[in-house]
Amino acid sequence: MKVCIVGAGYVGLPTGVCLSKYGHSVTILENNPQKLEMLKAGDCPIYEDGLDADGLKCIEFTDDYGTVYDKDIVILAVGTPSKLDGSADLSQIFGVCDKIKSYLHKGQYLAIKSTVPVGTNRRVAQAIDNRCPVISLPEFLREGTAISDFLNQDRIVVGCDDSSAGDVIDKLYCGRNDTTEMVVTNPESAELIKYASNAFLATKIHFANELADLCEQVGASVKSVTTGMGLDKRIGKHFLNAGCGYGGSCFPKDTRALLKISDKASLSIVKTVVEQNVKRQLKIGDRIKDFAKRANVTKIAFWGLAFKGNTDDVRESPALEIIDWVMKDLGLQISVYDPKAMKNSEPALSGRVRYATDEYDCADGAEMLVVLTEWDDFKKVDLSKLNMTKKLIIDYRGIIDRDNAVSCGYDIFTVGEGLKKGKQ
Ligand code: UGA
Repeated sequence: MKVCIVGAGYVGLPTGVCLSKYGHSVTILENNPQKLEMLKAGDCPIYEDGLDADGLKCIEFTDDYGTVYDKDIVILAVGTPSKLDGSADLSQIFGVCDKIKSYLHKGQYLAIKSTVPVGTNRRVAQAIDNRCPVISLPEFLREGTAISDFLNQDRIVVGCDDSSAGDVIDKLYCGRNDTTEMVVTNPESAELIKYASNAFLATKIHFANELADLCEQVGASVKSVTTGMGLDKRIGKHFLNAGCGYGGSCFPKDTRALLKISDKASLSIVKTVVEQNVKRQLKIGDRIKDFAKRANVTKIAFWGLAFKGNTDDVRESPALEIIDWVMKDLGLQISVYDPKAMKNSEPALSGRVRYATDEYDCADGAEMLVVLTEWDDFKKVDLSKLNMTKKLIIDYRGIIDRDNAVSCGYDIFTVGEGLKKGKQ
């Protein structure tokens, strides 16, 4: 098939690379000149595991909207960021529709991969004067594992009134696993499946976070509790890792947007999750300040800036929110390190913190180390080689081996486990 994807972002690029692996001819339409230049030169503008020059060289990159004319399917993968009131900003979707409308014709399909409120697919069909069927094709890829998620997806959701849409998407995903299920439904249901999935996962994470608070109070271990719960197949083990709140470009935005479109239905659980997730980050900031005050600490090292491990993305990153909140206390000296998100965090932090070259440099001379992103790299650090002047670790992702930290002489607080004193 001849495929055009509009938008070379965290969704468009992995999708393009994987569809070309399936044997399709893929063109990506990108209107940002800097990004386009990089991509044409074989450089990837984002960090994403498995997105390399080899994958990119199979794709044609262009800024010519006329390219959609000879394609079998055009897939929109542009951003739908939050507006100030929490609703989804659809200006990029409708902006692209305006630009491609005159090139669309019968025999083609327009698919919407961007996360859009219920009713948008029908509005898009009107915006392109019904020149071709519009398919809601929500994506379920996670940043950092997008390529492997694509190649091993649980399900493909297709929302369209045109009866041929299921067959077209079946052909598009010709290389999928035998275990991938396909759900074909109407556009409204497909749009809602995406929002409901993200809201449910966000709720699961928030539940684990509240359990973590309880575990700290009663002396239980949240890891044991969630492992024990997750073994029940009805509950499932995924997305029960307690941490410092969910972030990123999807969960916060999509949960807010879901509340905006559900003004008549109550969705009280999601409302609480949205409110409490924001509060959690500030509470964690206060807790860190409290630890610092009690231990008479003024020099704090932070490991992790990205919203989660394995990405350079800092959009709505809990780490940045927390560091910003902690920095409101005057007199603290802060160093930061993240394996991939240093550059992207500069607009938020530059000039206010010391940018370290690695984990060891970040902790050098610090009196307290705080872990805010679940990078595997952090687990591999030799704690005995850190040159800290006081030995206190606050691990809000639960990734540092507590027994090892204790035997290296650190007091360690772990989310959902509490404080353990180091061996003197
Ligand atoms: C999320 C969904 O997982 C994808 O299925 C969806 O396609 C995507 O949003 C989207 O709508 O585009 P993503 O935002 O890349 O993917 O990241 P997740 O891996 O879901 O993590 C989101 C946040 O939750 C991160 O801050 C992460 O640290 C946090 N998290 C995740 C936890 O705190 N605990 C967990 O157990 C899992």
